[in-house]
Amino acid sequence: MTTSFPRKAFRVGIICGSQRKPRVGDQITNFVLETVQLHSSSASTSEKHNISFDFDYIDISALDMPFYDEPGIPSKTTPSEGYVHEHTRKWSRRVASLDAFIFVTPQYNWGIPAGLKNAIDFLYHEWKGKPAIIISYGGHGGDKAAAALKMCLVGGIGMQSGDKMIVNLSFPSRDSLYAAAQGHHLGLDASKEGGIWSSERKCITKAWDEMVDMLVSKGVAKAAVQVSQMFTHLKMALQK
Ligand SMILES: Cc1cc2nc3c(=O)[nH]c(=O)nc-3n(C[C@H](O)[C@H](O)[C@H](O)COP(=O)(O)O)c2cc1C
Repeated sequence: MTTSFPRKAFRVGIICGSQRKPRVGDQITNFVLETVQLHSSSASTSEKHNISFDFDYIDISALDMPFYDEPGIPSKTTPSEGYVHEHTRKWSRRVASLDAFIFVTPQYNWGIPAGLKNAIDFLYHEWKGKPAIIISYGGHGGDKAAAALKMCLVGGIGMQSGDKMIVNLSFPSRDSLYAAAQGHHLGLDASKEGGIWSSERKCITKAWDEMVDMLVSKGVAKAAVQVSQMFTHLKMALQK
């Protein structure tokens, strides 16, 4: 007799960090999302570990958050009761419900957009310990923004991100950088060979695989702790 266990569904937030009008951030976030969706539906890892993925597309411009206005410090706040404002509680519930994140960010003056940093700063425990992929873009791939974001996510709020989980997407020419600045259609296609950033898709899927490994090993470690706690309780009960 074979027993089939229900699939574990991980929830991944994919964040579009640009909130300009016009912008190309939405096109790039969709390209990244389609790339990982195509990959994860065909990847053997999902079969092997009996896992699946749901995505939550988070557009920073649609969050409509004010500048940081909580009286407390998020790292010292208990999410369920500690926030004063409903917009923070709503954002807290959304981020807490997700297992991992893909941050897609432009580079603005060697940093990340203020709106993205502001949305991150509102929370702490909801991000902590979760894996984060960073996808930056810019004239030279936005590597400075990616480094700044990594420092904030890993150093500041304790998320997990390795070197293989960072991808820098460079606009292929000056003309395309100017076209991007005007929000023009970039013609990105996650399923087409030879198009813009078609070879970078491999880096994106490698980053994804790294993140899946983190999620799986975190799950295995958690299960091991639960089993060991179960044995301890059993032993104590038998000794009574
Ligand atoms: C305020 C601002 C600062 C920028 N700074 C940089 C920069 O430091 N390096 C870079 O390569 N491009 C820079 N750019 C150009 C962006 O890469 C380009 O405009 C891109 O389209 C921005 O992404 P978005 O359209 O999703 O907002 C900057 C653009 C803006 C609006």
